[in-house]
Amino acid sequence: MTLGILLVGGMGTRLMPLTRDTPKPMLPIAGLPVTEHQLMAAKRAGITTIVLATSYLSDVFTPYFGDGSQWGLDVRYAVEESPLGTGGAIKNAAAALNLKAGSDEPIVIFNGDVLSSHNLAKQIQEHVAHNADVTLHLTHVEDARAYGCVPVDESGRVTAFLEKMENPITNTINAGSYVFHPSVIETIAANTVVSVERDVFPALVTAGKKIYGYIEDAYWLDIGTPRALLAGSKHLVYGDFKVDPTSTIAASAKLQDGSSIGAGCEVGDDVVISGSIVCAGVVIETGSEIRNSFIAPNSHIPKDSKIIGNYYSNELISPLNL
Ligand code: GDD
Ligand code: MG
Repeated sequence: MTLGILLVGGMGTRLMPLTRDTPKPMLPIAGLPVTEHQLMAAKRAGITTIVLATSYLSDVFTPYFGDGSQWGLDVRYAVEESPLGTGGAIKNAAAALNLKAGSDEPIVIFNGDVLSSHNLAKQIQEHVAHNADVTLHLTHVEDARAYGCVPVDESGRVTAFLEKMENPITNTINAGSYVFHPSVIETIAANTVVSVERDVFPALVTAGKKIYGYIEDAYWLDIGTPRALLAGSKHLVYGDFKVDPTSTIAASAKLQDGSSIGAGCEVGDDVVISGSIVCAGVVIETGSEIRNSFIAPNSHIPKDSKIIGNYYSNELISPLNL
């Protein structure tokens, strides 16, 4: 039995207004919430029990995932009254795992806004083989400024953890999936705002703990900006479009460039949808053109509308700044 914690409590500020009513991890990628893609990846790697560490818009998760049995998982919930930061959230969520004293069952922690096809099972195996305290998935990016910089030595040991540097010393970055020995949880203060990146990891490195990198450059994307969200959805559509089977699409409508259409939508005659995410319950009337846009749930788009590079809801239309 391997345990997991999914960090899904952030405000998703860079995605406003998309995250006004929907927490970032519940935004749809190729028709399914980011969290659902992550739960399936966790399950494939042998994780059986997973806690969703929620805070912002926490009520949205439970009705969708329930007890997790639909996915063959034991899904639990930990709610922070006010956000405790990534480290505080891990501490708070670990309580829901009912860890036994002295257990050495690995706990896998995921940032809730990452799509990754790396070999998580191998990351866990290497962690166990090294008898490590923490094993971090690391990847390479061209511009490391928005990430945690993580230099490693020849043996793969992490030598520093430097969150969001102006002048990154390496382009090897924290990819947001960590395997923890349960004893690491004990080093985090309870009910306190703690950052795993700024407080816990640097302290563990300084204390000489065994922190390893698992380096794999598989498909990887943080969907934390509108541009990345649209790109991630296109990548996972695998073709021109993906339509939920409960939606109705007119025969003359054209769906292109990795567009996805959520549940219960109606798409009228001669509509063109290209490179866009259309959420559930959207009605798009005849002749409308939608390109590189995000259409919020239950939107009603009148006849012959042109929506290009926009966020669209019934209350607000604004540019996505792609
Ligand atoms: N429960 C809870 N409580 N979750 C939180 C909180 C909190 O207070 N704060 C953030 N989170 C969750 C977010 O929802 C997200 O899933 C995850 O923690 C990471 O937060 P982000 O706000 O997305 O951080 P980031 O993208 O700037 O940086 C992080 O991810 C990078 C990789 O994408 C860091 O971990 C970097 O080191 C890393 O490189
Ligand atoms: Mg992020």
